[in-house]
Amino acid sequence: MRIDVLTLFPQYFESPLGCSIVKRAQDEGIIEIVLTDIRDFTKDSYRKVDDKPYGGGPGMVMMPGPVFDCFEHVQRLCPDQGRAIMLSPQGQPFNQQKAVELSRENRLILIAGRYEGFDERIRDGLGAEQISIGDYVLNGGEPAVLVVIDAIVRLLPGALGDEDSAKDDSFSNGLLEYPQYTRPEVFRGMKVPDILLSGDHGKIEKWRREQSLERTKKIRPDLLDTELG
Ligand code: 6GU
Repeated sequence: MRIDVLTLFPQYFESPLGCSIVKRAQDEGIIEIVLTDIRDFTKDSYRKVDDKPYGGGPGMVMMPGPVFDCFEHVQRLCPDQGRAIMLSPQGQPFNQQKAVELSRENRLILIAGRYEGFDERIRDGLGAEQISIGDYVLNGGEPAVLVVIDAIVRLLPGALGDEDSAKDDSFSNGLLEYPQYTRPEVFRGMKVPDILLSGDHGKIEKWRREQSLERTKKIRPDLLDTELG
């Protein structure tokens, strides 16, 4: 899989993409992540990428020129045109189902916005879908790009050491994950539930399913209306 990221802050991504599972997936050729600086596609000596909104109002708006030129350049880098996605608080909500869907693509082009927003002609002209990572406002789309990449990478075959790890994640079956324990058996007076030490795998599985359901009912009852299985 190839992911292109269009951003005004390529350096923002260096450390998070250079650690842990995402780093290993790149080192092993499971995923290729290419960062392109939108500012390199400005044509004036100030390298200007934003301007005041027509009609007035606070803040600045991203100009269409550099974003279009950057996008068209990136499209030409690879024969597969890919699926273009703008990260924006005005997008469709990102969730595990979306992560699974995107993990099946060969190429994604992710566009991170800054300032008060994108000139509307960027939305209209690029034909990109829009995704939001939640109902709150960030300073820019960069953290959202990292969230989307992180969620996708763990779903790619070979990215996690243990092939089953992603299958048991919270949300992968529409429920929150069951409680997990490791050694020691007793920690500060708190004991690991006996059933997990019983060696009875049937009972353990049933207990975990019940715990998942109970926890979901209590914390996220909204998930139960859309349970996937
Ligand atoms: Cl993608 N961008 C910004 N600026 N804020 C957000 C977001 C994106 N998703 C949720 N809030």
